[in-house]
Amino acid sequence: MNRTAIYPGTFDPITLGHVDVVRRGLKVFDRVVIGVAENPNKKPMFDLDTRLAMVRQTFVADDRIEAVAFSGLLIDLARQQKANAILRGLRAASDFEYEFQMATMNRRLEEKIETVFVMAREDYTFVSSRFIREISSMGGDVSELVPQVVMPFLKR
Ligand code: PNS
Repeated sequence: MNRTAIYPGTFDPITLGHVDVVRRGLKVFDRVVIGVAENPNKKPMFDLDTRLAMVRQTFVADDRIEAVAFSGLLIDLARQQKANAILRGLRAASDFEYEFQMATMNRRLEEKIETVFVMAREDYTFVSSRFIREISSMGGDVSELVPQVVMPFLKR
């Protein structure tokens, strides 16, 4: 049986924490579809096409991973991709409240699709796209926290 997980996020930009979640997801699923959300409420720094390009370039060498952009409900994307599950990473207890609400709401919308959590590697528990953006825009070095392909985008 071909098991597919949707890994949704804003990816503004993708970090090595996200990469770690995808790699862990592939221990459980045959295919991971990364859903890059338009998320206008968050006013992302990078536009949708750029965020999608950074994700695609990160995983270009692995055909078990693909990336798509989406602007509607996550659960509709999951249905469209015939996904068995939604994949999310947990870094710390502070992530739990929001993740719990989202997983419960998504289950209410579609009982058949389960949300599966993996724990981020210890080195990345403090990594977030928000801090990457902030540190990078103030001239700090984030090269060990994001995929190499992201660096030229941050420098621009
Ligand atoms: O990287 P983020 O910002 O934590 O990801 C949030 C995301 C994209 C998973 C969430 O905003 C989302 O699912 N957006 C799609 C719209 C939707 O389905 N909303 C209802 C969620 S219960």
